[in-house]
Order: sequence, then structure tokens, then C-alpha cells
Amino acid sequence: MEPVKRIGILTSGGDAPGMNAAIRAAVLTACHFEIESVGIRRGYNGLIAGDVLPLTRKDVEGMTNLGGTMLYTARSAEFYTKAGQKRAADNCRFLGLDALVVIGGDGSFHGALELQRLGVRVACVPGTIDNDIGCSTYTIGFDTACNTAIDAMDKLNDTMKSHERCSVVEVMGHKSGHIALNVGIATGATATLTPENEVDFEADVIARIREARLRGSTHFTVVVAEGAYSAHDAAERIQAETGIEARATTLGHIQRGGSPLTRDRVTAARMGYRAVTLLRDGESGKIVVMNGDVCETVDIEPGLAMKKSFDADMCKMQNVLMK
Ligand code: F6P
Repeated sequence: MEPVKRIGILTSGGDAPGMNAAIRAAVLTACHFEIESVGIRRGYNGLIAGDVLPLTRKDVEGMTNLGGTMLYTARSAEFYTKAGQKRAADNCRFLGLDALVVIGGDGSFHGALELQRLGVRVACVPGTIDNDIGCSTYTIGFDTACNTAIDAMDKLNDTMKSHERCSVVEVMGHKSGHIALNVGIATGATATLTPENEVDFEADVIARIREARLRGSTHFTVVVAEGAYSAHDAAERIQAETGIEARATTLGHIQRGGSPLTRDRVTAARMGYRAVTLLRDGESGKIVVMNGDVCETVDIEPGLAMKKSFDADMCKMQNVLMK
């Protein structure tokens, strides 16, 4: 196999804090191995359009602490088509890109798998606040997003306490409840609803508020994962069924912004480094993953088939530790 002399780097799907740190790590690792880096703007749309720029050591200076992605990102409808995928693969050859580093979520990795099948060497780096990549215990951005939500909830708690209300907070996560579960535990929420656990509103919310009220609580917090329940619907139902005033807050895209925290910067550095190293070593078709605290790789197809479940103890514990 020809040695890798030039790599393309792109970010795709929803941005996540730490993506810039991953880009920086990939570029600096490539520089170390005397591999040229080319940034591809706007995800797969940029690959189809040939929207590229050279990336040097200088270009990624000061990137570790910046949220968002300096390469912009997109969810490319065109790349879902066979014609779009072929155009993207053809562009890799035209631009002399020997391999690609794809930073994103599972949708982006399905795209990378298609490119791999079309003869493009790829390495995937999990970057999504949702932490929903089955083969990796951690994805870049999750910790920062959780902390943003926790910070907002601590503030909401002050006003809920003053008014003796119930705060219902909707957090992101797409079809997964990892943000909700962790934020619920970290803030001592009265109840947490996630898509992973079937929702019985009476048992999971109303009964818990009742128990907390009987223990003397005068304000309450319910965390809902966006894939499980709507905060507005939950707040209306709580108020109607308990008589406790309830207010809904949808945290939304604020969870995707901000300067990445330690875990995201360090994971981004480890994964970006590993992605370029594996390509340099002649490997391809891999997702760089965290297995606990160990940085490893798995093949894309079996990696994408892996499902992530909650640690059952975390759910049980939350029921004990609710306020
Ligand atoms: O995948 C990241 C994520 O923020 C999800 O949590 C959320 O459902 C989705 O992206 C929102 O996407 P968009 O920014 O396209 O509205």
C-alpha cells in the first residue's frame, strides 16, 4: 500500500465542543509524520464540492479552547445518494487525498464506510455531545454539554426554590438519554425520563414528586431527554395532576457551545492523534474509540452495529439519590 502523504480532515453532523481540539491533534500529528493536511469545509458537502483549504501548524494554533468547528459542519443530504458518494470519492482522488479523518457521529461514520467501500482510506473520530456511539464509552463533547446543562439547572434551581415550583428541563441527546441520565444524577433531579427506559408518567414522575413532597421538598426538578418526552407536555401534566406550578425549559443548542472541558480536550487529542497514526501505519476503515480509559480502534461496520446501554446501577442509584 502506498504511504499516506496527504490527508483530508472534515467534521460532520452536529458540532461538539472539542472538535477543534481533534482537528488540531490530527494536523499536528500529520505534521510530525510529514503528512500534509487538507481541511474540508462543511462536512461531506465540502468533499462533494471540493471546498478545501490547506491546514498547517499555524492554522490550528490556539484551537484547543475554542468551541464549534473551524471547518464548519453540515448534515449532507446529497451525500446520502450514491451519486454524491461517488463524487466525494472521485474528489478525494482528484485532490490527491490518500486518506480521510472524519470527525462526527454515527451518521458521519456510515458515510465514511461508503467512502471506504469506494476505495478511500478512512479513520473515524467520535465527536458528538450525545455520547451515543455504541462502540465507544465516550464521545468528544459529552462532558462539556453535560456541564452546560448542569450549570443552567443550578440556576433554574434557585428560582424554582424561591417560587416552590417544579422545573422541567429538556436536554438534547437525539434518541439517547446519556445527557439526561448524567445530568439528572449530577443535579439530584426528582425524576429523569430517557428513551432507553419506557416511560410510565404516573410511576416515573408523579409518584416521585409525591414522595419528595411527603419528605418535605417544596421544589422539584424533572429532566427529560428530548427523545423521551417534551418538557412542555410534561410540565402541563405535572401542574394538572399535582397542582404544583411547573415551568418548562428547553436548553437546546446552548448545550453544543462553549469552550471544551478537560475530558473533551484530552479525548480529542488522543483520538485525533490515534486516527492519523493508524492511517500512517497503513490501517484504514476504523473508528477510534475509548474503551474505558483506553484508546483503541474497531472496524467501522461492526462498530456501528454495537449498541450502548445504560449501566443498570446508575438508574437504580438515581432512584435512591433523588431529591
Ligand atoms: O447530535 C447532536 C444533536 O445536538 C442532538 O442532540 C440533537 O437532537 C440534534 O443534534 C440537533 O440537530 P440540529 O442542530 O440539526 O437541530
